[in-house]
Amino acid sequence: MDKAVTDTGVKLALEHVTSGYGAVAIIRDLTLDIRRGEIFALMGKNGMGKTTLLKTILGLIAMKDGTIRFDGAEITGAEPKALVEAGVAYAPQDQPLFQDLSIRDNLRLALPADRHLAAGLEHVCQHFPFLKDRLAQKAGTLSGGEQKMLIIARALMTGPNLLLIDEISEGLQPTVVARIAAALKAERSENGTTILLVEQNLDFALGIADRWALLKLGSIDDAGTVGAGTHQQVLSHLQI
Ligand SMILES: Nc1ncnc2c1ncn2[C@@H]1O[C@H](COP(=O)(O)OP(=O)(O)OP(=O)(O)O)[C@@H](O)[C@H]1O
Ligand SMILES: [Mg+2]
Repeated sequence: MDKAVTDTGVKLALEHVTSGYGAVAIIRDLTLDIRRGEIFALMGKNGMGKTTLLKTILGLIAMKDGTIRFDGAEITGAEPKALVEAGVAYAPQDQPLFQDLSIRDNLRLALPADRHLAAGLEHVCQHFPFLKDRLAQKAGTLSGGEQKMLIIARALMTGPNLLLIDEISEGLQPTVVARIAAALKAERSENGTTILLVEQNLDFALGIADRWALLKLGSIDDAGTVGAGTHQQVLSHLQI
């Protein structure tokens, strides 16, 4: 990947991005900046294109139009592997853990080389200490909440500088959501990690986000800085 051209404080810049499946455009002329070190909440109803947008950023879906820049350098059309090497990690909505593999092996598979395993395990076990004593346990035997924490831990194994998270709180009880929120806040404050959080749980997302945007039919319908009235503002979009 090219060296950053300029440092504008923008981690990820999407400019007039259009993408979709076959001839169908799902993301339509979308422009959005994610600033370095911020937690950015992207919200929207089911089917509005949130997952499609993350997959477009990751190069998993071909773009029809527009530009994506990472640290100032254009990454439009970059291979997913190149993005991982540049420090992008992804906690997907639709790709489960390897259920028959141990916690350790699930975490190990996130790494390019085994020599990083000890440091990675130490890092993620600080966020989720329960993993430490259970590294040999099969992922499939963990509770739903524990599996979600393992998905976040897996994404953090490489020490990413940009973390994309897709609806991690879906179906989780509030105590688990709070543990994940604490881990993400700590990751950002300790390592400066930029986090793009796709969510439908407004309490969780707006509780930790600096800025937000609302996706509607593949475009940004509303956006702002998180403040006292944001919850109500977002809710009014989701209720219509
Ligand atoms: N592989 C695919 N092929 C064709 N259409 C798809 C594919 N994946 C998603 N779509 C369509 O793209 C649109 C956006 O889907 P997407 O999964 O991005 O929405 P979402 O906002 O993530 O929804 P949810 O909140 O339910 O996860 C939907 O109409 C969906 O049916
Ligand atoms: Mg989705």
